[in-house]
Amino acid sequence: MEELLKKMHNWMDDYMARFVTDDEEVMQGIRIKMIHTGYVTKIARELAQHLKLTTHDVQLAEVMGLFHDVGRFRQYSLYKTFNDAQSEDHADLGLKVLTEEMPYMAELSPEDEVVVRFAIRNHNKKEIEPTEDFRKLVFARLLRDADKLDIYRVLSPYLVPDGAQKAPNFVPSDASQLVSPDFVRDFAEGKQADYHRLRTHGDRKLVRLMWVYDVNYSWTLRKMVERGYVDLIIKYLPEQEGLDEGIRRLREYIKEKCAAEDRVDL
Ligand SMILES: [Fe+2]
Repeated sequence: MEELLKKMHNWMDDYMARFVTDDEEVMQGIRIKMIHTGYVTKIARELAQHLKLTTHDVQLAEVMGLFHDVGRFRQYSLYKTFNDAQSEDHADLGLKVLTEEMPYMAELSPEDEVVVRFAIRNHNKKEIEPTEDFRKLVFARLLRDADKLDIYRVLSPYLVPDGAQKAPNFVPSDASQLVSPDFVRDFAEGKQADYHRLRTHGDRKLVRLMWVYDVNYSWTLRKMVERGYVDLIIKYLPEQEGLDEGIRRLREYIKEKCAAEDRVDL
């Protein structure tokens, strides 16, 4: 596995290098994904180690982190966007890339390949698809957590007021900073918001905050809190009636979840 992992890293480095271009605007997007890939790979390993998985399974987590966003590069070169709704689902696209271009997938055992594909396919979906296979679930949860933790790092410059104006989807008006009433209500009631109803910049911030409820392992949530991501989003939420109740509920949830112990028996 050690050897295979090396070959996979080398392949991924070469693959990403193919998307390097002189176009600085395109390069900005590509660079973000290259760096994100590095961090998620590292976090996936760390989380797997924290969960006391076997050496083999820690390496498997590393493979997932390494390839989870491989579809981003083809997506950007084909569609010039990272928006799945405006192009195609980048996780599904990534699996296609692995099938068509990555010669080493077949060197994984069939059981491992199934788990890797399951985790990658489910890393960006609203929910993990139902499965009876606990192994699949453990790794899908791990990869989703590793990805979210690093997305908070990527997003944090955009969460402060000045940075917000540089965000790709920024709409410059005061009203856009407010959270829509139905989102405020869902947040106060601790319910998941419906992404399709996203309307304002404020809604987008709140949805990012509500990812906290979708974090699987307490290790991940502790990192998010330690690195200040949660407080940062809360700090720059608008002053708005009803948000306090949601924040109080969220902090309560965080306290409980962070105190819990992660236990995974594979
Ligand atoms: Fe992704």
